[in-house]
Amino acid sequence: MAAIFSLLLLLLLPLPSLSASSPSPYLSGATLVQNYQNMLKAFKIFIYTPPTPFNFPDAPASLFYNSLLRSPFLTHTPAEAHLFFVPFSPDTSTRSLARLIRQLRNNHPYWNRTLGADHFFLSPAGIDYSSDRNVLELKKNSLQISVFPVTSGYFIPHKDITLPPFNPSPLPLSDTPGQNSTKTSFLGYLRWDGKTEPNLVNEFKGDAYFLVDGNSEPLNYVRSLKESKFCLFLYHGDVAWMVEAMAWGCVPVVIVDRPIQDFPFMDILRWSDMSLLVAVRHGGAERLKQLLNGVSEEQYVEMREACMASSKHLVWNEEEPQPLDAFHMVMYQLWLRRHAIRYARREFV
Ligand SMILES: *[C@@H]1O[C@H](CO)[C@@H](O)[C@H](O)[C@H]1NC(C)=O
Ligand SMILES: *[C@@H]1O[C@H](CO)[C@@H](O)[C@H](O)[C@H]1NC(C)=O
Repeated sequence: MAAIFSLLLLLLLPLPSLSASSPSPYLSGATLVQNYQNMLKAFKIFIYTPPTPFNFPDAPASLFYNSLLRSPFLTHTPAEAHLFFVPFSPDTSTRSLARLIRQLRNNHPYWNRTLGADHFFLSPAGIDYSSDRNVLELKKNSLQISVFPVTSGYFIPHKDITLPPFNPSPLPLSDTPGQNSTKTSFLGYLRWDGKTEPNLVNEFKGDAYFLVDGNSEPLNYVRSLKESKFCLFLYHGDVAWMVEAMAWGCVPVVIVDRPIQDFPFMDILRWSDMSLLVAVRHGGAERLKQLLNGVSEEQYVEMREACMASSKHLVWNEEEPQPLDAFHMVMYQLWLRRHAIRYARREFV
């Protein structure tokens, strides 16, 4: 009953307006609406039974996994499944993983039809290339879901998916400010983990345009998000607060030395219009300041609006997934990737 109810709820709740009045945060907003509805009605996933029951120790992987297990997308009928989910514990060794895939290949007809291309798996850190044929097919052909950001080499663009980070919110995101709250105090805010890139962070600390703190009191933290134009993220540092920052209207600036291909929902959201990627080296605080000051007010307002509009898609709802939230957008990305050519079995007579 609960499952039926939540399905109805999903179908009945109105979609947020994707109107053209403000700049759209979507790459293709018009197809999103229709295609998302189709997904809710039709998407079916078959899940293999894991060798032993397990869970993922950390959000957001556990949030996704448990939401999927309780979702109306699962089917017991492989014939109607669009995709097959291969669950395994995050501490599975490469050898055990190879054995697991070999068993799927031998005991079920589904793997061989696509060599795993209509299969997906959840691995928070992502998996590496392997010389074992089974693990290699999983890596190269199956859809991997891992947690943003992913170590370079553990993520294949266009195929793999990342989960948005999860930060237990100090204040409900529904209290986020209106569009025109003021942004006066700081140009950039960095919530620093105390470890990543200390030299660069010391430059920020010595500059009154920037605010750097550690894990401050929730109220101070939210005030910092509200009063800063941009929020700075060290790609290899703490990015868990990115979604919150966006919801509070703080435009993310990701400091990274290479192009990023693993942003969550990269084929749905217009990340280039709502974030800045900058490579900052030594002496970079001054140059970053110039760059951020160079963003026109008009452009800034558009970026900020896109951030706030997108943030609802990046939010995890712990109690129950909500329409168009992080869980459903991951499902939507899987739906977009469901087409794989299924080869016929060869018969030997
Ligand atoms: C899948 O193909 C392999 C050969 O690559 C074969 O050994 C195996 O039996 C096949 N699985 C099924 C279920 O037919
Ligand atoms: C936005 O700004 C206008 C004028 O500056 C003000 O009258 C209005 O109350 C503000 N709206 C919000 C939601 O803060």
